[in-house]
Amino acid sequence: MCFDEAGALSRSFAPRFKPVACFTQRAVGARRGAIQPALHSRGGRRPLAVANAAAKLRRMEPSIYQFPDIFRRVHMERPGEIEHEAAFLREIWRRHYPRPVIRVLDIACGNSPHGQIFARTGIQAVGIDDSPAMISAGRAESRRLDSIRFYRRKIERFTLPERPFDAAIFMCETFPVLTTNAALIAHFKAVAATLKRGGLFCIDVDRHDGVDLVKRRRLWRARTVKIGALRIDVREFHRPIGWYEPLHSIYELECTIRFPGRPVVTRDLIPVRYTTPPLMDLLSRASGCFSLIACYPDLSFTRPLAECDGRWFAVLKRL
Ligand SMILES: C[S@@+](CC[C@H](N)C(=O)[O-])C[C@H]1O[C@@H](n2cnc3c(N)ncnc32)[C@H](O)[C@@H]1O
Repeated sequence: MCFDEAGALSRSFAPRFKPVACFTQRAVGARRGAIQPALHSRGGRRPLAVANAAAKLRRMEPSIYQFPDIFRRVHMERPGEIEHEAAFLREIWRRHYPRPVIRVLDIACGNSPHGQIFARTGIQAVGIDDSPAMISAGRAESRRLDSIRFYRRKIERFTLPERPFDAAIFMCETFPVLTTNAALIAHFKAVAATLKRGGLFCIDVDRHDGVDLVKRRRLWRARTVKIGALRIDVREFHRPIGWYEPLHSIYELECTIRFPGRPVVTRDLIPVRYTTPPLMDLLSRASGCFSLIACYPDLSFTRPLAECDGRWFAVLKRL
């Protein structure tokens, strides 16, 4: 198995990671995002500390999203997990949408593993993501499929030259990347504008209570991932955050990819914003575009929410 420095593998991997899921359920570090306008970056889009730290990181080190295949391995996906999630989404649609779903928008799609599964069964899938490397990986993997398209977009605010969708999905517990109230509302409005009336918006939300506030950045855990001959040293950090922030914590992921002769260090800050079902309900109402119609824990239609172990699905209906 060989790699180039864009992180591309000579073959794709069967097992997929569970990215932000692991980040947010178990990784809980911290940093700051802010409620006060003074602490926000211009336009109120991101908490200032997150924006500053992210900008500094961007100047210094690449993101793991620039290495799509390595990223999947680093994040410990279980075999069959994506297929299971896709089947679960289909069942949500069957229960809550009166017609067959034929057009799906995949938000923060990465290489859109879910969209690719749907596209193979004739559903028209469109993915949006901000990472050129992830989108290129998606395009390369789906080049034989006519029914999937990718657009480079930031999810906070976007428009698309597309006909309306029956459903939108936001998978992999990536929802916390929306760090401010303004971004959340703008996002909901942007998604609503792409959906048919009555269309469904399914959000895969992390559950991570027991967040530990830390005073200074500290190592949480370290491990080594091997992909063939390539070694990746992974270190995860908790980062401090103010009590008044809209985020609960910031988790920092550092990967040292030991390419022969030239190790590359990637660094990502992953915001952790803890969204409970009542908060999702409030958000939906505040957006004026959605209502929360169902919550399902851990890919189950029968388990009570009180027994939710790691994640839950919010099902929103476009008003
Ligand atoms: C954990 S991956 C999930 C990919 C895919 N949904 C999946 O299930 O495998 C998160 C993706 O979110 C994208 N992302 C993060 N923040 C974003 C933003 N503000 N706008 C657009 N994409 C973003 C990243 O580029 C990355 O591809």
